Amino acid sequence: MPGLKKLFSLYRYIKPYKYEYALGLLFLLGSSSASLVFPKLLGQLVDLGNQGKLAQEINRIALILLVVLVLQSVFAYCRIYLFTHVTEKTLADLRQSAFNHIIRLPMKFFLYRRVGELNSRISSDITLLQDALTSTLAEFLRQLIIIIGGVSLLMVTSYKLTLFMLAILPVIMLLVVFFGRYIRNLSKQAQSQVADSNTIVEETLQGIQSVKTFTNEFFEMGRYKSKTIDIANTGIKNGKLRGAFSSFTIIGLFGTMVAVIWRGSQLLSAGELATGELFSFVIYTVFIGGTIGGMADVFSRVQKFIGATEDLMEIFNEPLEEVQEISELTADEVLRGNIRYENVSFAYPSRTGIQVLSDISINIRPGSLIALVGPSGAGKSTFVSLLMRLYDPVSGMILFDEKDNRDIPLSVLRSQMAIVPQDIFLFGGTIRENIAYGRPGATAEMIEEAARQANAWEFISQFSDGLDTLVGERGTQLSGGQRQRIAIARAVLKDPRILILDEATSSLDSESERLVQDALEKLMKSRTSIVIAHRLSTIRQADHILVMQEGRIVEQGTHEQLLQLTDGLYKNLSDLQFA
Ligand SMILES: Nc1ncnc2c1ncn2[C@@H]1O[C@H](COP(=O)(O)OP(=O)(O)OP(=O)(O)O)[C@@H](O)[C@H]1O
Ligand SMILES: [Mg+2]
Repeated sequence: MPGLKKLFSLYRYIKPYKYEYALGLLFLLGSSSASLVFPKLLGQLVDLGNQGKLAQEINRIALILLVVLVLQSVFAYCRIYLFTHVTEKTLADLRQSAFNHIIRLPMKFFLYRRVGELNSRISSDITLLQDALTSTLAEFLRQLIIIIGGVSLLMVTSYKLTLFMLAILPVIMLLVVFFGRYIRNLSKQAQSQVADSNTIVEETLQGIQSVKTFTNEFFEMGRYKSKTIDIANTGIKNGKLRGAFSSFTIIGLFGTMVAVIWRGSQLLSAGELATGELFSFVIYTVFIGGTIGGMADVFSRVQKFIGATEDLMEIFNEPLEEVQEISELTADEVLRGNIRYENVSFAYPSRTGIQVLSDISINIRPGSLIALVGPSGAGKSTFVSLLMRLYDPVSGMILFDEKDNRDIPLSVLRSQMAIVPQDIFLFGGTIRENIAYGRPGATAEMIEEAARQANAWEFISQFSDGLDTLVGERGTQLSGGQRQRIAIARAVLKDPRILILDEATSSLDSESERLVQDALEKLMKSRTSIVIAHRLSTIRQADHILVMQEGRIVEQGTHEQLLQLTDGLYKNLSDLQFA
């Protein structure tokens, strides 16, 4: 079974708790064995009564039965306690591993996966594993013990009757396996359909404002409806199969019982079997039959479990980005701020056919202010994504202080850069938390200072809760310009060697923009800065302006130099804006 290998890959997570788990298994063995002795003793009790034995002897057996009962209940408690204990710990480890893994995957992984899908990996798949580790595995082992132990005990009682029963049993077993296969496929299908429908709910709610402004409520309802109908259909198909399965087990179970009693009565009248023996035989047959019936359920749960494990392992097998925790940079690791692009070409992994950057070569001196301008879609944001090493160039290389960026530890590199991105993401907490994200552990004074420099203090201090004002989910309770200033404060607080501003002041009015611009100019003095702007007025004083078009640098120079180019792209843009 290919799933078996996957199951063993899970063993790594149970290993730290293997002794507790083994002890739990021992208790399981104990309680299952005890339940096996039960019919045997009951049969003896009947036989003793039948033979007109002394009350004393009857009481003795009854007492043993009572002891077995108590033992069994103690075993059951210990087993459940131990299994739950191990499972909860294992699951916590597994959840952490899954989250820790996903969060360290490279950006290109996220180009292909949707958030909802990854979310369900961590939540529902792992819950399935919980079910498997606590109850399913225990149930399966118990069934195995009952079947093997039960048959052995029956052999001792009457091999003739046992052989007769075994002639019927394997047929049922074969059908169980056969059915299980079908149920497995359907279960897997149902699981991925549920994940799909969750994605719709999640994305719709995240974009609820767009849904409403485009009056697309009915469109989304329709989308969700069709998914839920799919789920229902798969579920119903699954149910039909399970129903067929259960009718089959009823016939199998009762048929076997009738047959066994019929054959047993023959043996009884021939004097080859005692009444009590037939009695315990019938109970065992019910036990074993019921166990086989229950196996279908366990089987489908095991299949689900294997499906979930496979999906999870697929993510675990994705190679990680090499990020590590940075506390203090060594003198050697501190960037001076020189950046060189050498024949860099790039296409997004999800659209390899479209060249986004073509043969870019550029040298940026430490401490200089570089501006990137050009039409929308020219590749400006992509240029800085490569700088942050969110992606690697397809060809060419990027050097920091003449060192290949692939030779610099990723976290060392990124920890010295800060970006105010084009689409700002704020976390749902307070303004304070959002600014502090630039430097976890920053003091209140540092946060306030950063807010002042970003010209954000003015509006923050007007809120009655000040820095502790909640920003709403993804910052939706703030205006676009306020969000931008918080993002600038966050970058300022990080105090990076290289500062990147991607349309960082585009949502501000002219007055605020001028104020933020002044503050930013002071900040840019001591570091290498890269500014992307559509409004050319904001980048006049740049040391060097790169004009990009369709992934290439088509013009470069200072503002004055670029204006000299007759019919240049920069001059045209400038004429349009200042006309
Ligand atoms: N994650 C992505 N996957 C695939 N293609 C992308 C991705 N992001 C951007 N692109 C494509 O790369 C090209 C350059 O995009 P980029 O965001 O770098 O442009 P830009 O110059 O920043 O434009 P704007 O001024 O509108 O922000 C575009 O054609 C865009 O469609
Ligand atoms: Mg952009």
